[in-house]
Amino acid sequence: MKTILVTGGTGYIGSHVCVQLLDAGYHVVIADNLINSKREVVDYIAQMTGKTPDFYQTDLLDADGLRAIFRAHPIDGVIHFAGLKAVGESVEQPLRYYTNNLTSTLNLLAVMQEAGCTVIVFSSSATVYGENNAVPFHEGMPVSATNPYGYTKVVQERMLTDIAAAQPELSVLLLRYFNPVGAHPSGLIGENPNGIPNNLMPYVAKVATGELPHVNVFGNDYDTPDGTGVRDYIHVCDLARGHVLGLQYAFGRTGTDIVNLGTGHGSSVLELIHAFSQACGHDLPYVIAPRRAGDIAECWADTKKAKEVLGFTTQVTLADMCRDSWNFICHQREQAH
Ligand code: WQD
Repeated sequence: MKTILVTGGTGYIGSHVCVQLLDAGYHVVIADNLINSKREVVDYIAQMTGKTPDFYQTDLLDADGLRAIFRAHPIDGVIHFAGLKAVGESVEQPLRYYTNNLTSTLNLLAVMQEAGCTVIVFSSSATVYGENNAVPFHEGMPVSATNPYGYTKVVQERMLTDIAAAQPELSVLLLRYFNPVGAHPSGLIGENPNGIPNNLMPYVAKVATGELPHVNVFGNDYDTPDGTGVRDYIHVCDLARGHVLGLQYAFGRTGTDIVNLGTGHGSSVLELIHAFSQACGHDLPYVIAPRRAGDIAECWADTKKAKEVLGFTTQVTLADMCRDSWNFICHQREQAH
């Protein structure tokens, strides 16, 4: 079976993809600098699959470190997750975000070319749909961004597209995620950000554990059914399955293609808070706060292309996503004591 390099493979989404790649019979090599994840995730992946991926604590800014991996393994394809991804932080530290995210990808593409590796699946984001498109967002829409993090995704998509146009043997698949949430039912891996989370689901989870006093609902005056922001929350295990299907698709073609990975349904902030309170078994306090700069009212995926080209659909409900998130958190707390 093929060998796949997963950059950022100990991260939230990357680790769930590694599990499904190993279960599908691929050999997996992980390169991660552990800036936003923990080394023990490799052990959890091994425990969940019965197979141990090769792991290199490597920063993609170190091209020679990357070369060493390609010399040590016959890498057939790459799934590229590694990158900084906090919207607010990117506004405060744009130089760090552009340097890290763009140079990492350029190094990876250069080393892939030297090694003759011609398949890359790129972790992009619905954030590239910006604030001027109408929902549901589809792959042919114009892209833009409202913050440096979003622009690093726009620019990386552009770089990959231009390089693939000049290298006919290259296969590039840009996967645009909507809002990944939830955790593997085992409770061993999940989203466990350090500090105060930027994203809604991990923030709500910390209110559910009592680590934070209440949820701040960023605005209830949007033009949506209950006035709060609507997003397309997709279970991280569904998202991971979409990557395995995407990789198989990318191996069968050349050139660049773009596919959304979402459910096609929107849920509001209040709906998510309610769903999580059902999962954790108690009400969750919230206050209505001012809108957050850069937020759009509604965001959900047009899922037609994912179904047509990948055979990808999602069935998991928001209640399931909250249940699995809460299960992961309870499992982490048991481990800690
Ligand atoms: C969801 C909704 C907020 C926090 C971002 C990135 C995107 C991707 C996913 C990386 C919005 C509201 C949030 C809170 C709230 N990240 N909210 N109180 O902004 O849709 O997407 O994360 O790839 O690129 O842009 O996700 O979870 O931050 O917000 O009311 O404490 O919850 O206004 O409506 P977002 P989010």
